[in-house]
Amino acid sequence: MQNTLFYGDNLKILKEYILTNSIDLIYLDPPFNSKADYNVLFKEPTGALSKAQITAFEDTWHWTDETEKTFKNIVDEAPADVVEMMRSLRKFVGQKNDVIAYITMMCVRLLELKRVLKDTGTIYLHCDPTASHYIKLLMDVIFGKNNFRNEIVWCYRGAGYPKHDFGRRHDIILRYSKTSNYIFNLDEVREEYAEATKERFKHYIGNIRGGKDFGIQQLHPLGKQPDDWWQIQPIAPSAKERLSYPTQKPEALLERIVKASSNEGEVVLDPFCGCGTTVAVAHKLKRNWIGIDITHLAINAIKLRLNKMFGIVPKIDFKVIGEPDDLEGARELSSHNRYQFQWWALSLINARPYKDKKRGADTGIDGYIYFTHEKDIVRPAIVQVKRGNVSVKDIRELGHVMDREEADLGLLITLESPTKQMKSEAVIKGFYNSPISKRDYPKIQIVTIEELFAGVKPNVPTTISPYKEAKPVSRENRKLDI
Ligand SMILES: C[S@@+](CC[C@H](N)C(=O)[O-])C[C@H]1O[C@@H](n2cnc3c(N)ncnc32)[C@H](O)[C@@H]1O
Repeated sequence: MQNTLFYGDNLKILKEYILTNSIDLIYLDPPFNSKADYNVLFKEPTGALSKAQITAFEDTWHWTDETEKTFKNIVDEAPADVVEMMRSLRKFVGQKNDVIAYITMMCVRLLELKRVLKDTGTIYLHCDPTASHYIKLLMDVIFGKNNFRNEIVWCYRGAGYPKHDFGRRHDIILRYSKTSNYIFNLDEVREEYAEATKERFKHYIGNIRGGKDFGIQQLHPLGKQPDDWWQIQPIAPSAKERLSYPTQKPEALLERIVKASSNEGEVVLDPFCGCGTTVAVAHKLKRNWIGIDITHLAINAIKLRLNKMFGIVPKIDFKVIGEPDDLEGARELSSHNRYQFQWWALSLINARPYKDKKRGADTGIDGYIYFTHEKDIVRPAIVQVKRGNVSVKDIRELGHVMDREEADLGLLITLESPTKQMKSEAVIKGFYNSPISKRDYPKIQIVTIEELFAGVKPNVPTTISPYKEAKPVSRENRKLDI
């Protein structure tokens, strides 16, 4: 199986692409219903994180016509005990609020995830204590109470305390197997014993129970069996591992999960994969993997992450499904979702998105590329993305924005072909002369999506990536793709 990243809603992708009984390990970290928005952080040319942010995803699920339809599908098609549980939860939690919307959307996905999981497989569901009790009921009824393996408490230290409560410093990870015959590689995840324990065990420790001598107690040579509470620090803002994607989980957390519940060559699935922590760890540990996410910001972040971590020689090999790979696909995305189209188009030239669908007035700027103007001086080129018919007015407008922003370069990415008039208007704006390369660059450049597909790149001086980059994994630790 080829490692694959899917862009799209995981429910649809699970149904369309993922075979029954094909996955060894599932880890999912869905949005929790914490009523927050999560922003992608971009890097300024100085290296500092930018204040202008883009909402990657909202963490809130709402009761909509679609949820009502999903609930009805569950009632019509799910096993009787799942229907019973969902009806009871709806009575208790509320008929149409965000919490029941969250539970409903999770219910259909968990049913699909059970279908794709192998009989020897395990699922780890990451949630926070505001919803974990409802989700546990759901998991009990879908996967079976007997297959409940652990409620893992991921605890960490942090700053800031509520005034009248204890500090909230943990997440819950529910671990269920599909049957009683499941993979658990204990020796792969043993921990070092505490110094005090090692010291105590240097001396004789008897083991007499019920009058019977069980002999000398010894420590396991490979280390201690981990408990169901794991103290692993979240990724600090300054950590090397940290990328620009919100809610990124530490690789150490995923390493323990992947090692414990899968073997080399087996398949790991993350249906809410964010910036791809699970897939990066799975790749490092020589597992095959499938990642799914509903935003191009995530898919782009994962592509950059994987290429940086593993991509030098030989080049990492993985497929991306759901991203446009021809004009028709690009048109479909543009008509389906304006912002996703914009973010995808910007990713083709490694530009940083600027326009947030949730915030701010239209500034006429969809994105930026940063280029080196002079030694140690970086300047932005303004990028606009057009998906419909374009005309000379668009070039004039880009010219005005460039004047307002005092920008040297402006790029218009367009889905439809530019007119002759547009090209002449762009030429009128003249050239930018780079003090470094001493070369002239057209101030306004028009690039079509078709040209970008054909590998044409905008003609700009050396650019600087707006993304925080992952650290390459050393050759010996890399899976060799053939
Ligand atoms: C909490 S984040 C996951 C973070 C991830 N564990 C990491 O380490 O980067 C949840 C992700 O789920 C994605 N998402 C939300 N709804 C989705 C859906 N229906 N299908 C696929 N992905 C979805 C969001 O875009 C977001 O990237």
